[in-house]
Amino acid sequence: MQNLLKINENFAKLPANYLFVEIADRVKKFSEQHPETEIIRLGIGDVTRPLPEAVVDAMAKAAREMGEAATFRGYGPEAGYPFLREAISKNDFRDRGVEIGPDEIFVSDGAKSDTGSIGDIFGTDNVVAVCDPVYPVYVDTNVMAGRAGEYVEGKGFSKIVYMPCRRENGFLPEIPERHADMIYLCFPNNPTGLGIDRASLRGWVDYALENHAVILYDAAYEAFITEPDMPRSIFEIPGAKKCAVEFRSFSKTAGFTGVRCAYTIIPKELVFGGVSLNRLWNRRQSTKMNGVSYPVQRAAEAVYSEEGARGVRENLAYYRANAKIMREGLAKAGFEVYGGVNSPYVWLKVPEGLTSWEFFDLLLEKTGVVGTPGSGFGACGEGYFRLTSFNTKENTQKAVERIGKTFAT
Ligand code: MLT
Repeated sequence: MQNLLKINENFAKLPANYLFVEIADRVKKFSEQHPETEIIRLGIGDVTRPLPEAVVDAMAKAAREMGEAATFRGYGPEAGYPFLREAISKNDFRDRGVEIGPDEIFVSDGAKSDTGSIGDIFGTDNVVAVCDPVYPVYVDTNVMAGRAGEYVEGKGFSKIVYMPCRRENGFLPEIPERHADMIYLCFPNNPTGLGIDRASLRGWVDYALENHAVILYDAAYEAFITEPDMPRSIFEIPGAKKCAVEFRSFSKTAGFTGVRCAYTIIPKELVFGGVSLNRLWNRRQSTKMNGVSYPVQRAAEAVYSEEGARGVRENLAYYRANAKIMREGLAKAGFEVYGGVNSPYVWLKVPEGLTSWEFFDLLLEKTGVVGTPGSGFGACGEGYFRLTSFNTKENTQKAVERIGKTFAT
């Protein structure tokens, strides 16, 4: 008999398309059918502000260095150049009262890649817990790895522990009844746009320590926090270095969605069964990637310069102002609105009687505005809708006006 090549059958359990690809496909089709409609994209969280000049200068200077024999560089250190790891350690942690050493920081091309790949260093028998709604990467990559079990319509994957985040619990996950080994948390949250308070985060750290679980903490939106007491890093919580990994990104903070640079923190103290996760991740990364390009790492370093930091602050203020325009404008139009204070995302309740996808279609048809249906993030997202503050001020205002005119109650 012929030997048949076997594929990874777990892929067959996934939805046909990644959420944002599905949205892009629908919008493309709509545009082709309605070329006269001006589309305003408030769907995927992609930035629009140009990079700060100091960042561009650093990238250009580094590119020129690559063109001179004396300063040319080949492969860099897999986990990132010391200049960037030290700048991160100092600016994002030590100066904020948290000790994270450069050798606990792994530079990469994105928090999406890192949150999606981190599962490589964990056993496939582990029980995974995720918030519902959730950034789909955490679930989809665990499906690919075989940790998710079978998909049950209306319930989700049989082996995944879903932690509902609803209006009734302030959109904060509760400690699950079933034991979980790998707990994915994202704060400020994607998609709900809400942050977590210190006491609640401490509750998660205590749970993980008592239950020998690991928290996979996605802090990609940390730069949007405006409330002074809100934790910006899980490592502000005592004991977290023994139970948590944290993911950070320059994408939304510094406008790097098209540049690609992020980092993951794996403390040296994070040891399970006598094995250091820092060592495992280093082994994984040095085997599967050759790091991030030198000009990009110089650009990321420049984010911490005085000029670079000023430019970043201005861009963040611009997006925050957009979030305020959406929050206030939509509330005035009668929508129930959440988020947008410590996050670039605004989470709204769709009008009574419509599903999230029905609202998506109606909104596109009537206003040309693209958002993300809450149900795309999980069953508990049904009835909700996410808008981003990353478009221009003009487009944000226009979108809110059009939505107001069409749906005002
Ligand atoms: C989102 O819109 O949720 C994000 O842009 C997705 C991502 O960062 O990969």
